[in-house]
Amino acid sequence: MRILSAIGLTLCLFSSFVAAQTPMNLMPLPASVQHGSGQLAINENFSVAISGYTEPRLERAAARLISTLARQTGTTFTAPAVDATKATLVIHAERSSNEVQTVGEDESYELTVTPQGAKLNAANPLGILRGLQTFLQLVELTPNGYSVASVTIRDQPRFPWRGLMIDVSRHWLPIEVIKRSLDGMEAVKLNTFHWHLSDNQGFRIESKKYPKLQELGSDGKFFTQDQVKEVIDYARDRGIRVIPEFDLPGHSTSFFVGYPELGSAPGPYSIEREYGIFDPAMDPTKESTYKFLDGFIGEMAALFPDAYFHIGGDEVNGKGWDGNAPIQQFLHSHGMKDNADLQAYFNKRLQEIVSKHHKIMVGWDEILSPDLPKSIVIQSWRGQDSLADAARKGFHGLLSFGYYLDLYQSAAFHYSTEPLSGKAATLNDEDKKMILGGEACMWSEMVTPENVDSRIWPRMAAIAERFWSPQNTRDIPSMYARMEAESMRLESVGLQHRAYYRPMLERLVGSSDIAAIKTLADVVQAPPEYRREGLHNEATGHPYTSLESFNHLADASRPESIVAVRFNTWVDDLVAHRATPAEIAQMRELLTQWRDNDAKLRPQLQSSFLLKEAAPLSQNLAMLGTSGLLAMQYLENGSKPGPEWMNEQAALINSAKQPHAESLLVVAPAVERLVRAAGQ
Ligand code: ACM
Repeated sequence: MRILSAIGLTLCLFSSFVAAQTPMNLMPLPASVQHGSGQLAINENFSVAISGYTEPRLERAAARLISTLARQTGTTFTAPAVDATKATLVIHAERSSNEVQTVGEDESYELTVTPQGAKLNAANPLGILRGLQTFLQLVELTPNGYSVASVTIRDQPRFPWRGLMIDVSRHWLPIEVIKRSLDGMEAVKLNTFHWHLSDNQGFRIESKKYPKLQELGSDGKFFTQDQVKEVIDYARDRGIRVIPEFDLPGHSTSFFVGYPELGSAPGPYSIEREYGIFDPAMDPTKESTYKFLDGFIGEMAALFPDAYFHIGGDEVNGKGWDGNAPIQQFLHSHGMKDNADLQAYFNKRLQEIVSKHHKIMVGWDEILSPDLPKSIVIQSWRGQDSLADAARKGFHGLLSFGYYLDLYQSAAFHYSTEPLSGKAATLNDEDKKMILGGEACMWSEMVTPENVDSRIWPRMAAIAERFWSPQNTRDIPSMYARMEAESMRLESVGLQHRAYYRPMLERLVGSSDIAAIKTLADVVQAPPEYRREGLHNEATGHPYTSLESFNHLADASRPESIVAVRFNTWVDDLVAHRATPAEIAQMRELLTQWRDNDAKLRPQLQSSFLLKEAAPLSQNLAMLGTSGLLAMQYLENGSKPGPEWMNEQAALINSAKQPHAESLLVVAPAVERLVRAAGQ
C-alpha cells in the first residue's frame, strides 16, 4: 500500500510538473485548467458552429474568431459553414445576456478541447466571448502544424468590473485608436471602457444641445454622436460596457470656452495647453449651472446606455472659488466651512441630476462624502486605503491607483498591485464585495495616436490578469513569459504597440538602418512617474504642452524595457551561481553589443537634431558594456578587482544612472550588481 501510494504521489507530482511545463500562453490565467492528452489540429479546414441560443452578435463573434485566427496563424480557412455535428469548435450559449450589459453579469465559460474537437459552453454570450479569446490563446505552433493541446478549462472572473480608462482630452485619440483598444480589451477579457471625454485640454464629444462645447472647446477634434454610437456597438459586440466621464467641477476649462457663464471667473477662457491642476472650476452656486448640467447630462445619458455615469470630481484646488466674492458669500450664507463643503454640495446636486436621468454616479476619491447615496461608486486614484474607507462606509469602489499606464512603471509593479491589499485586505467578506474591481488609466498628456498603444500594451494584459484571475496568481516570471507571448498575439487583433517602434526609430535616425538606435532604445525608458515633465522644464525652461512634438527618443522607447527585465534575470542567476552556460553566453553577447554600439550610433546621433541629446546615453551604454564584461571576467576567473577599479566603476555607473534626453539607461542597476558581485 505504502509503495503504491508513493508511486501514485510521484506520478501525481510528475504530471503536475508536466502540466506546469506545458506551454500555455494564457493571459489572464483561467480559474481552472485540466490538461488532457493529444491535440486538436488547427488547419485550413477549421470551422465554427453555434448550437443552442444564437443572436447576430454571436455570429459576428464566430466570424471574428476565424478572421483573428487567420491573422494570428496566417492560415487561409477554406471550410464552408458546417453544422454543429461537423464543426471543429462548437459554441453553445444557454440564453441571451442582458439587453444592456450589467456589472456582475455571468461571464463564466467552460472550454473542452480533445483531438476530435472543441466545445465552448456558457450561460450567455458574454461567457462565449471570453472563452473564444481563451481558445485563440491556446493555438500553438508545433512541428506538425498549428494545434490546441487537449484541455478542459472552467473559468470565471474574480472581479465584475475590469476596465481601461482612456483620456482623449489631453491628446486627441481618434476612433481607430479607440476601436483597436477595444479589440485588445476583448482579447484579455476586460469588460469596461471608461472614456475620459472632457478635461481642461479638450471637449471631445458632440453635443447637439450645447454645440459650442465641441465647436469652441476641441480644436475640431471630437467624436460625433454617430461615432459614439458606433463605438458603443463595437464595444457591446466584444462584451464591453462604455462609461463616459465628464470631469466636473474642476478639470473643466474646455466647457467654459464656449459657455464662460458656467465658470467661476468671467472669462474669456481658452483651451488649456499646459498640464496639471488649474484654477477654473464650475460655478456651483448658480441655478443656471444646474440647469445647463441637467440638459447636458440628459443628452449624454440618452446616448450612453450603460447604467453608470462618471462625473470626475478630482483635483479641485478651490482657487477659482476663492477668487469669486459671490461664491464665497454663498458658501458662508449656507453654513459651509470650506471649498470641500462647497464641492460636496455641488456633487449632491449633480448626483440628483445623474439619478434623474437614471444613471448611477461614479467619481474619483474626492467625491466621497456621507451626503451622497450609497449607490455611487468611488474610483480610487489614491490607493487601497481610501477604497477600504469607502467600502466600510457602504460605497462601492474601483482601484486605479497603481494602474496608471502613463507613468512608465513595470508590468511587475502593476501586476503586484492588488485591489484587496493594504487596509482593503482587512475588510470583512461582505465589505470586500464592495470593491468591484479596477481600471487601468491611460492619461494622454505624453502620448499621441502613434505611440499610445505601446503605453497601454502589453502591460494592460498583466493588469487584466490581476482583475480576472484568482488572487493567488502571482508568479512574476510566468507573467512576463506569458505577457510577451500575448503581446505578439495582440498585434493580430490590430494593435500597433510593436509595429510603431520601427518607424519611430527610423525617423529618429533618418534611415532604415536602425540596428544601433534600436540597441540603445531597447534599454532606455522615460523616468517613472512625472519626472519627465520636470526634466523637460529644466532642459527647455518651459513646461510640456499638448502642442509639443512627441517624436523624441523618450517617445519611441517602450515604457518598460523587456531587454532590461531579461538582463536583470540573468544577473540574478549569475550572482546566485545558477546561470546556465547559454545565459552566460547571451549576457556576454549583449554586453559586447552595448560596448560597441556607441561607435556605430555616433554618426547617426550627430546628424539628427532629434537624437543629439541622446549622445551621453549612448556613451554611457558603451561604458556599462565594458564594465559588465570586465566584471564577468573577474567572476569567471575567481580573481578580485582592486579597490581602485571598484571605485572607478562605481563613479561611472553612478553617472550612467543620470537621465539624459528625458530617458534613463535602465540596465545601469543590473550592471552595478554585477560589478559589486565581482568585488565580493
Ligand atoms: C486623477 O489622477 N486626478 C484622477
